[in-house]
Amino acid sequence: MKDKVLAMLKNSDGYLSGEELSRRLGVTRAAIWKAISALRQDGYTIDAVTSRGYRLQPAADVLNRAEILPLLPASFTLAAVEEVVTSTNQAARQAAEQGLPDRSIFVAERQTIGRGRRGRTWLSDSREGLWFSLLLRPQDEASRLSSITLFTGLCVAEALNGLGAAVGIKWPNDIVGIRSGRKIGGILTETSMEENVVRSLIIGVGINISSREFPSEIAGTATSVAMECGLNLRRADVLTAILKAFDRRFATFVQGSWLEDYRQHCLTLGRQVVIHTADGAQWQAKAEDIDAEGELVVTNEHGQLVVVRSGEVSVRGLLGYNN
Ligand code: BTN
Repeated sequence: MKDKVLAMLKNSDGYLSGEELSRRLGVTRAAIWKAISALRQDGYTIDAVTSRGYRLQPAADVLNRAEILPLLPASFTLAAVEEVVTSTNQAARQAAEQGLPDRSIFVAERQTIGRGRRGRTWLSDSREGLWFSLLLRPQDEASRLSSITLFTGLCVAEALNGLGAAVGIKWPNDIVGIRSGRKIGGILTETSMEENVVRSLIIGVGINISSREFPSEIAGTATSVAMECGLNLRRADVLTAILKAFDRRFATFVQGSWLEDYRQHCLTLGRQVVIHTADGAQWQAKAEDIDAEGELVVTNEHGQLVVVRSGEVSVRGLLGYNN
């Protein structure tokens, strides 16, 4: 009933009376009132004026099937939009085991155990961000997919900038605000393999959209689209813009012709970086390039070119030195 009432309000230019709604939907006025209350609880703003009826305020930032499906590119399947999950990556993993198809999408308003890279937690227990996972079933060799996370970072940066934000990529896949150098979003890819063939690949994307404050541990390094760019974006628009970019660009990923665009968005290149080695040592270098495998090529203090792996680099002026 809620979805029907929502559709009618969306398709109406002005006010719709409770009587009209109940007549057209063949239910009682009490049922209409219940549906209106539920929609308000979901985050919709609905004006109610005596003798005129109800009117929906446009551009509510609500994540549900009704908001996402009309904008979703046809090659994706919206597998789930939940109010709360532990982690959308975990939900996608369970669904992968049950055989859900390639390009299934899992979205949640909130995550209770959001996961970040390198075993960190990802703060996502609020509706202030976009938290989703994309399940791919590539049946391809792992080596051909090693840079899919970087490619997704390019799609995210391009989508956000297309919506008016100003973000770049801190190699390998942190989405950072160009103005502050702070982190707006990140990507966590998890792979399930059998004999070097990737059976399923889960790309989890987290983007801080409307947050205005962060806990003290990350307050110095985190930001949101709203704080950074002063924009009030709807999460359904951000989600579908990212998926459209992914869809449009996917052929360039397969051909390997996307890297130049990644380099253009990458804020790490040309900057002084600090490399952290596994034994705890640190050395300074200059970030020169991203190679075909998506690895960072740097010059060390002796002028030699060295290739470094992700997780080992921090960049001066971007998120401080220890991130
Ligand atoms: C990072 O540490 O930079 C990666 C953060 C990835 C967070 C997203 S939110 C949706 C998906 N579900 C998770 O538990 N993590 C990813």
